[in-house]
Amino acid sequence: MKSEREKELFNQAYEEVEKYKVIVSKDPFRLNYHIMPPVGLLNDPNGFIHFKGVYHLFYQWNPFETKHGAKFWGHYTSADLVHWEHQPIALAPSEWYEKNGCYSGSAIEHEGKMFLFYTGNVKDEEGNRKTYQCLAVSEDGIHFEKKGPIIHLPNGYTAHFRDPKVWKKGDAWYLVIGAQSEKGEGRAVLYSSKDLYTWEYLGPIAGGNINGLGEFGYMWECPDLFELDGQDVLIVSPQGLKPRGYLYNNLYQTGYFVGRMDYENVTFEHGGFVELDRGFDFYAPQTTLDKKGRRILFGWMGIPEENEPFHPTIDYHWIHCMTIPRKLELKHGKLYQKPVEELQKLREKGITYLDVRINGKPIELELVNGKSVEIIIDSITYDTERFEISLNGKARFIYTPSKKIATLERKSLKEDKIEARHCELESLHKLHIFLDSSSVEIFLNDGEEVFSSRIFGNVIDESIVFSSAGEISFNLRKWTLKKVFD
Ligand code: FRU
Repeated sequence: MKSEREKELFNQAYEEVEKYKVIVSKDPFRLNYHIMPPVGLLNDPNGFIHFKGVYHLFYQWNPFETKHGAKFWGHYTSADLVHWEHQPIALAPSEWYEKNGCYSGSAIEHEGKMFLFYTGNVKDEEGNRKTYQCLAVSEDGIHFEKKGPIIHLPNGYTAHFRDPKVWKKGDAWYLVIGAQSEKGEGRAVLYSSKDLYTWEYLGPIAGGNINGLGEFGYMWECPDLFELDGQDVLIVSPQGLKPRGYLYNNLYQTGYFVGRMDYENVTFEHGGFVELDRGFDFYAPQTTLDKKGRRILFGWMGIPEENEPFHPTIDYHWIHCMTIPRKLELKHGKLYQKPVEELQKLREKGITYLDVRINGKPIELELVNGKSVEIIIDSITYDTERFEISLNGKARFIYTPSKKIATLERKSLKEDKIEARHCELESLHKLHIFLDSSSVEIFLNDGEEVFSSRIFGNVIDESIVFSSAGEISFNLRKWTLKKVFD
């Protein structure tokens, strides 16, 4: 049964959707095939699960503003990870233990029911924070019954303690949570349970000054721990890392550690931290294991704070989107990310060019343009200092073989200048590009590196221009991608 407050919040949110529907739909930067909020602000993917044959993706949602606030859980479902249907709101911040937001969390299936674990965020009049890890249960995956707090803040941590991710190992349930120690160190903390209601604190498994890591940020958000190809992977979004050369150039980071989880001794021996994405906009991703055995990841194609007030979509009362879903694989200790194959359903009007040769001069290829397109460039061979692709005049991908550096440039959202992100890349043999009305995702060498970014600028420019300093040749396939969102 819904409380009166819950009903009231649901209605207010639905009214907001109705009120701004027309305005939102007029935004030329509204995307064609990326998950967006109907109005207001979307951030982290939450509760991603393949439940009774249907993919459920919930999202952090502030329906009332294009700023952060008391978050709801919005809800999309899909049979194929491509066509998504909006569902009724899953959670609204109606109760005392979550009054300032139903913050991020995860979903699992148990005895045919869906269990959501999330953080109840509470702030008092002086702005002091309290945090409660909460449970909500559903029979149908659509309507949720709140069970209230199941974990209270343990000693040794500040109230920056949130984003529970739950999984099963053997006959026990485990939960990892993002935390800040009282000394101001970021942490990933482990709990276990036999019944999903009573949780035992096991201790930190990774963090600043643990496992030889040294200082590593003041808060770790949205941890996700899973087995992949025989190893354990911990994905986490640390805050407070200082830029180091090409690394950690965004305000906040997301990356992973590969290691081995020892559940008995509560230790996670791991290697170094590797950034998951090299673009401007990627944060707080979440994975799930689907019924086909794939580990699939959605990320938020955004970063909190820095650039948010400068997104032009704010004028149309909405902000942010998700990345496309990616399948994860571990190869030689490195995470590879590939667009899921279902995305091929978006393809229309395919065109192929074999043995394209560029030698110095910028060229355009007939019909290789548009703002909702997929391009695969492979069999790349080069003898050049520089290879560039300009995308709708809004972004530019550059590979510099002599330096072994890949670069993505875009117009800054804040100032009148071009900004860049880079990563090292030994060689370039394949590019897989997904362009949408205001986003780009570029997968290099079958997922060895990815650049994800929002891109804004000239709305009508649909050009795609190739240029090089010396010789380069490749094969190219291009498709127009269908619109599946309003
Ligand atoms: C990450 C985050 C989470 C929190 C949520 C609130 O972007 O800050 O730590 O649960 O967003 O919306």
